Formats: sequence, C-alpha cells, structure tokens
Amino acid sequence: MESVNVGLLGVGTVGSGVVNILTHNADIIKKRLGFELNLKKVYAKHIKDEVKPLLEGKIASSYEELLAEDIDIVVELIGGTTFAKDFILKAIQAKKSVATANKALLAEYGYEIFSEAFNNKVDVGYEAAVAGGIPIIKAIKESLAANHIKSIKAIVNGTCNYILSEMFYKEISFEKALKDAQEKGFAEADPTFDIEGIDSAHKMAILSSISFGDNVKAKDVYTEGITNIDLLDIKFADEFGYRIKLIGITNLVDGKIDVRVHPTLIKKDDILAKTDGEFNAIKVKTDMNDETIYIGKGAGSLPTASAVVADVMDIARNIKNKTNLRVPLMAFPFNYVKKRDI
Ligand code: HSE
Repeated sequence: MESVNVGLLGVGTVGSGVVNILTHNADIIKKRLGFELNLKKVYAKHIKDEVKPLLEGKIASSYEELLAEDIDIVVELIGGTTFAKDFILKAIQAKKSVATANKALLAEYGYEIFSEAFNNKVDVGYEAAVAGGIPIIKAIKESLAANHIKSIKAIVNGTCNYILSEMFYKEISFEKALKDAQEKGFAEADPTFDIEGIDSAHKMAILSSISFGDNVKAKDVYTEGITNIDLLDIKFADEFGYRIKLIGITNLVDGKIDVRVHPTLIKKDDILAKTDGEFNAIKVKTDMNDETIYIGKGAGSLPTASAVVADVMDIARNIKNKTNLRVPLMAFPFNYVKKRDI
C-alpha cells in the first residue's frame, strides 16, 4: 500500500522526538497502519545535531515545500501564535491535515482553526497540546463521549511540578530547579509561560472547551503561577500534611464554566500530591462514569512526540479511509454553556 507523506515544521525538543520515533519505531508504525508513514520534508531554523543524520535528503529550503502536493499531513512544532497560525491555516486551505502540540495557539485561535478544518474537511490532531504523553484529549473526546463532564482537577505543567517536587525533596532553590527543568527540555522557550501559570491556563482552556462545549480562551482562566512559592511555604505545608501543587480546575458553577489555575494545598494522600517530577495527573469527574484518573509524563521530547505521532497515525488512517472523524468533535458548532464572569 502506498505510504502517507508527512511534512514537519520545527525540529526542537518535540520535533526531534518525532523524528526519532518515526525513524526508530517505523516497523511497529507500519505494522499497525498497514502502510508506511514517510517523513518526506522537514523545515526548521535550527535542527538538533543528534537528529541531523536521520534527515539526509529531507531538509526543505523553505516552509512552502511542506505545502507541496505530495505532502499529506503537516506537523507544526514551532510554537507561538503568529507564524504557526498562518502556516496551519495555509496548510488547511491546501487541504492538508495537521498535527500540532501548540496549546497557546489553540487556546487563542482554536475556534478559527477548527472551523477552517471543518470547512475544508481535514483533520487537526492536538493530543500533544495538553499533558504531553497522557491521552487526555482522546479520553475526553472519545472514551468519555457519552458523559457530561462535571469537573477536571489537574496538574498540567511538568515544569512547575518538577520545580515544586525538586524543592520539596532536595530543598533546592526555585531558580536551580527551574534551570534543571530547562536543561531537561521540559520548559517552554519562554519559561515565564510555565512558572506564571500561563501554559497551564492554555491547557485548561482547551480542556474546558472540549469538556463543556464552549470557546474558552486563556484570558477566561483565572491564572496565578508559582513564583511566589518559597521553600518555607513548602515546609510549612508539609508539617500540616499537605503538598503545594500548581492545579488547574474547571467545572460548572450555576451552569457556567469556572476555570482557574493556582497553587493549591493538596492533602498528602491525594494522587495529585503523590504525582511528582515532570509527571502530570488529571482527574475527570463525569455523570455516568464517576471519576477517571490519568497520569503520565506531561513534558519532554519523547512522551510529547509519542502523542504527536499517534495523532499522525490516526489522521493517516483517516486519509486512507477517506474520512475525517476527528474535527467535528472539537469544532465548536455547539455552545451549550457560558463562561462565568471572572
Ligand atoms: N512546558 C510544558 C510543561 C511542556 O512543562 O508542561 C509540555 O506542554
């Protein structure tokens, strides 16, 4: 069977993970799909040295090459909300399906992008945009599709969770823990997004949109980061039986969405308190399926890339089956609740 061709924009932390997975797991990907995923073209300003040998003959001289006729799916991993938005809209208008990990973009322009995708009958996969390698988008959109979501309580930023864990266990300073998180590839290009809670707000906006059927944006999320937390706060919390975690919460209050992100005291025996390092944890309460809990690596090259490639595989299957099953579930043709005034 003929292969499906992929174009990749951005080869940083997550992009290099995608190159590694497509190369090293090509056999299992082909077995599961029944055809090959061919990484045909890659465009990036800087390409990580470790993946350069895997990209011989694939490096494009301009991003336009990713929009050529023979590319079926484009993967956007450059982040940001300007060029990334133009690129994704151009790709969709050129009838290409897209996979992205860009939470900032979807939290602001999700409605526009998904509407465009819906109108052009292409897919947009964004599993990697929330909680890295945890399949939370799939869980909410697909596994829990028959439920009303009642609430979500979650750790959705690996950098903050890593910093708070390192401060707790090693008694190191905030600054040292942040530097370690950056070196490990967990933090955003601008780590202010992580530590000020903005990245968590992007992710909670996306989770709120798909859970409650409204176009929730990051500005709708009450947001407070972890920059005011010091070692003493963490020690006092410990003495009283709590851990301090950066928690995102979304639920319906009097029929309106109430969504927020802030440092929270969590009882030590709670699973959210026990989730450490770059791991994320998400509790979803529903009407029919009670509570389900999802835990896994929320940041880092391979876990995040694993979610991107899974989306590419789903989309490739859809292309082969000449269907697009995923878009209508996140396009927002339905508005059944309103946001709460904050
Ligand atoms: N900077 C993000 C985090 C990366 O630390 O969770 C994954 O979205």
